[in-house]
Amino acid sequence: MTWTRHHVLGLADWVKDEYDTLLQTASSFREVLSRRTKKVPALQGLVVTNMFFEPSTRTRSSFELAAKRLSADILNFAPGSSSLTKGETILDTAKTYLAMGTNIMVIRHKEAGVPQAIAAEMDRLDTGVSILNAGDGQHEHPSQGLLDLFTICSLLDCDKPRLELLNGKKIAIVGDILHSRVARSNIWSLTAAGANVHLVGPPTLVPEWFKGMKNDSHSGELFLHWELEPALENADFVMTLRLQKERMTDYLLPSLREYHQLYGMTRNRLQLCHPDVKILHPGPVNRGVEISSDLMDDPQFSLIQQQVTSGIAVRMALLFLIGTSSEMVE
Ligand code: NCD
Repeated sequence: MTWTRHHVLGLADWVKDEYDTLLQTASSFREVLSRRTKKVPALQGLVVTNMFFEPSTRTRSSFELAAKRLSADILNFAPGSSSLTKGETILDTAKTYLAMGTNIMVIRHKEAGVPQAIAAEMDRLDTGVSILNAGDGQHEHPSQGLLDLFTICSLLDCDKPRLELLNGKKIAIVGDILHSRVARSNIWSLTAAGANVHLVGPPTLVPEWFKGMKNDSHSGELFLHWELEPALENADFVMTLRLQKERMTDYLLPSLREYHQLYGMTRNRLQLCHPDVKILHPGPVNRGVEISSDLMDDPQFSLIQQQVTSGIAVRMALLFLIGTSSEMVE
């Protein structure tokens, strides 16, 4: 497939071929990362700017390392020590990095829609700059959805990770769905793959209207539960999510202890799942809240470290596909 997507703002409109191209490309970069020299010249001469207006450990570092492994030049913007503190607008910041020759901007912001707004401005100015959304408010976090997909598909077939491997699999997403951009991106990718996605958590964090998050061309079904047991029953994968306390404006939870009692993943609860079940978490984890501490560290069940490792190959694939698409190399 020829890659045509110029910006990656979300997964809502991704089609099967795009997922498969991304998975295949990430798989070849995983091979590069296993070599002694883990660097290729693919994006030599391009400038990638990380613009994170919200805290991040994994995503920011992972994009940085991915860009470096592709031989791009990388700039890191830190809002606290930037001209934003002097009143500069986000769009003017973006234009400043444009004037320095940035080709790809990787943007995270606490408000949904900021990456889209910058992409629209870059298009309006006919700059050729690509925007990668690294998480915007409660909207989407496409690179996380893709690295979760790559982690799961690689477990099912390491040599040929592809979308169809997930057809008919049962995947539970547990916890703070309401505030989670990770859950939203995963709902799009997993249902596109034909997996059946079961959202579960307290009613305050799993509102009924999530049922409407359905793309009719996706064959996977979406189910909602407010009790853990039916969601876990025979599940192939369980994605746990962080309780996003920074986004909780109302009193949405009784207490963290009670949350763990009702919805925390523990060894006991694994018995409800498929015997080969694996647990994911995008991080950062509230240890002992979303998942018990010992389970989190158990490599037999936990894919958390693989998710972080997969992130580098997946972000290399995203930067590569976008950075070598016809518009940018012209
Ligand atoms: C997630 C995020 O920022 O949306 N983390 C991540 O990117 N690995 C999830 C979270 O913050 O809980």
